[in-house]
Amino acid sequence: MNIAKRKNDLKFGGGPNNLTHGFVPTMGALHDGHKELIRTARADCEFLTVSIFVNPTQFAPGGDFLEYPRTVEQDITALRELKVDQLYIPATDEIYPQGTMVNITLEPIEHLLEGAQRPGHFSGVANVVLRLFNIVRPTRAYFGEKDAQQLIVIRKLVTDLHLPVEIVGCPTVRDSDGMALSSRNVFLDPEERVQAKSISRGLFAAQDAFSSGELSSDFLRDVVRKELEPNNLLFTEYVSLCRPGSMDEVLGECEEGDILSVAVRLASTRLIDNIRLRNRPGSN
Ligand code: PAF
Repeated sequence: MNIAKRKNDLKFGGGPNNLTHGFVPTMGALHDGHKELIRTARADCEFLTVSIFVNPTQFAPGGDFLEYPRTVEQDITALRELKVDQLYIPATDEIYPQGTMVNITLEPIEHLLEGAQRPGHFSGVANVVLRLFNIVRPTRAYFGEKDAQQLIVIRKLVTDLHLPVEIVGCPTVRDSDGMALSSRNVFLDPEERVQAKSISRGLFAAQDAFSSGELSSDFLRDVVRKELEPNNLLFTEYVSLCRPGSMDEVLGECEEGDILSVAVRLASTRLIDNIRLRNRPGSN
């Protein structure tokens, strides 16, 4: 595996010989969710680049940038086992050279939901992803559906700026107890972990109600809230049911494909999860 710390050390940066060049950008601390993205990309692409860059611009001032888990040696071993061709680990001043002026913003979606809770976060994501795409120049890039709003933001970035890259969304990977995998799960103590399971339980209960014919968005949000409420360590930031694309909150009846999402805090750990509503009776 080629390990490039500077962009000039990257191989196949331009995707020569018309190779399908897959790209999985990450912030490291790789878990099975990342590994599944990488396996999908590996199966799809002739040449595969993964990046590890903990992007400062997507963390709020005073957020968990410094505490974000960093496990580079372990990640390198995993990437070799996954037969990744190339790892790009840039320094911050390569991605954001001194005097950088260009700043991508996405109105209004960067201010909705996750964006309202984390001002500047999606602008930070869009800024780093655009720069990484321009450096790595992949033909396809892979992102998890767990970060549903991030995926929407990236698709919008690519469409609006006519970027020559295909975005592939990959399903959320869950533990056997239903909990979505996240690099932040390692911060949960055993009691917090038990309470965190109410997130996916709530989402699945709402999905069951939807596929049994319940279309009221208020009702489905309440199904989730009722699972979350009894947990005394858990603070709910939002339970949302929104329409993909515009990300407008659904006020009346839900449709197939609407996104039900949750953000909570458990002590100092922030967790998010979502599902797309599926199998509305009569939808096939
Ligand atoms: O999802 C992530 O890990 C990050 O937001 C990303 C896409 C690598 C950008 O820093």
